[in-house]
Amino acid sequence: MLGVIGGTGLNQVEGVEIIETRSLSTPWGQPSAPALRLRWAQGECWFLPRHGEGHTLAPHRINYRANIHALRLLGVRRVLAVAAVGGIASSPVPGDLALVEDLIDYTWGRAHSFADGLAGPLQHIEFAPPFDPAWRAQVADCATRCGVPLVTDAVLGVTQGPRLETAAEIRRLAKDGCTLVGMTTMPEAALAKEAGLSYATLAVVVNPAAGTTDGSIHAAIEASLGAGMAQVHRVLEALVGATDQA
Ligand code: HPA
Repeated sequence: MLGVIGGTGLNQVEGVEIIETRSLSTPWGQPSAPALRLRWAQGECWFLPRHGEGHTLAPHRINYRANIHALRLLGVRRVLAVAAVGGIASSPVPGDLALVEDLIDYTWGRAHSFADGLAGPLQHIEFAPPFDPAWRAQVADCATRCGVPLVTDAVLGVTQGPRLETAAEIRRLAKDGCTLVGMTTMPEAALAKEAGLSYATLAVVVNPAAGTTDGSIHAAIEASLGAGMAQVHRVLEALVGATDQA
């Protein structure tokens, strides 16, 4: 079954029936929240709000290992991770949706592996590309069919947060080749890969990054989050129909 990890602006999915709520314990501790089994007109999926039920967990405090383990326990094999992000370059810009192609990890101190020789047997997974190409192609196909344009060549810089970046930090990310900036996706994507899950990030660009705008970033986020998540909803609907054939 499809598993959806909801990010900022997607703590719940409106207008979709919750047919089961599962509180899971994992060897890594508690996931961010109970997982919700959602019934759409076209099928079902599992949904996990990354930041907790009331959006109380900062990106660096999320138990990413418990979240990925919980999705595996639920029988999820394909994960669509939704993330609100800032735009650094001339594309993608606020209002756009991006199916992220690559990433650079600037986070630190997060429990980031199931396979570091302590938590489990040491493994050096290949992480290029970080997102599953076949799964990305399927998500892109669904978005095309439901008329939602996606940018497919974005590079996401993942910062530690919870503060936003300085203008100099954003200039450095741009020089490194990042076109987007966000605070999640890592270590989530790497853990998903270690766990053998197909994983892709659907990023909603909700603001121009620090130093690329004179306006308030929070005002920009408030202005564009709702419309962006409505687009995500359309993609999810199509994806559930395409993946839940059971
Ligand atoms: N920076 C980091 N994370 C974010 C941003 C940003 O500008 N917008 C949404 N998440």
